[in-house]
Amino acid sequence: MVAGGQTGRVLITTERLTITPAVAGDLPTLERTWTDPLVRRHLGGPLSAEAAAARRTTEDLTGARAVRAAGDIVGFCFLGRHRSGDTELSYTFLPEHWGRGYAHEACMAVLAAVLRTDAGPRRVVAVTQVANARSRRLLDRLGMVETGRFVEHGEPQVMYAADRVGLSLPDARWQRRGAAGR
Ligand SMILES: CC(C)(COP(=O)(O)OP(=O)(O)OC[C@H]1O[C@@H](n2cnc3c(N)ncnc32)[C@H](O)[C@@H]1OP(=O)(O)O)[C@@H](O)C(=O)NCCC(=O)NCCS
Repeated sequence: MVAGGQTGRVLITTERLTITPAVAGDLPTLERTWTDPLVRRHLGGPLSAEAAAARRTTEDLTGARAVRAAGDIVGFCFLGRHRSGDTELSYTFLPEHWGRGYAHEACMAVLAAVLRTDAGPRRVVAVTQVANARSRRLLDRLGMVETGRFVEHGEPQVMYAADRVGLSLPDARWQRRGAAGR
């Protein structure tokens, strides 16, 4: 369910999660994701405590969404601008909450909210390291499609994309299966 008006200022609720624009009070939890070695394994490694403290003072939360389950932050989704001009989806979840489908539930809801908004972008991209198996499984399960590979920061990267048509396919298939089963 999406409540609110403008894309980027909405409150989304899913079966298990609430997704809200991140605010300054969420920064201590966000900072954990910058310093955690597991989270940062495919993101250039953990920041030192000093680097994280410095980043906290300049962090721009525009496009950041805090994802909560039962009131606690389990992770973050981010909508930014890729250098191609496309809207870019990224995400970091706290390791103790991996393996429960939270990232999938949150990213699917964010993607749907963005792509199903009339004035919103027609396409959303995501970039992840080729070696980031969890992230790639997530992108596959979201129905995003690999569109290219390149090397950046000395690491092989893979780009995925979703568009309005692609995103609507799972729903349409589900509806057809449902209808056939009646
Ligand atoms: C990428 C990342 C978000 C993936 O987290 P995740 O929890 O594995 O992702 P999902 O939400 O898709 O969860 C899927 C897993 O939950 C399991 N699961 C358990 N209950 C589930 C449920 N109710 N619904 C769906 N999946 C469920 C699935 O079986 C799957 O397990 P598997 O990975 O062993 O196949 C996480 O690893 C992360 O934050 N990494 C660090 C940040 C990063 O690298 N970001 C990428 C660049 S943007």
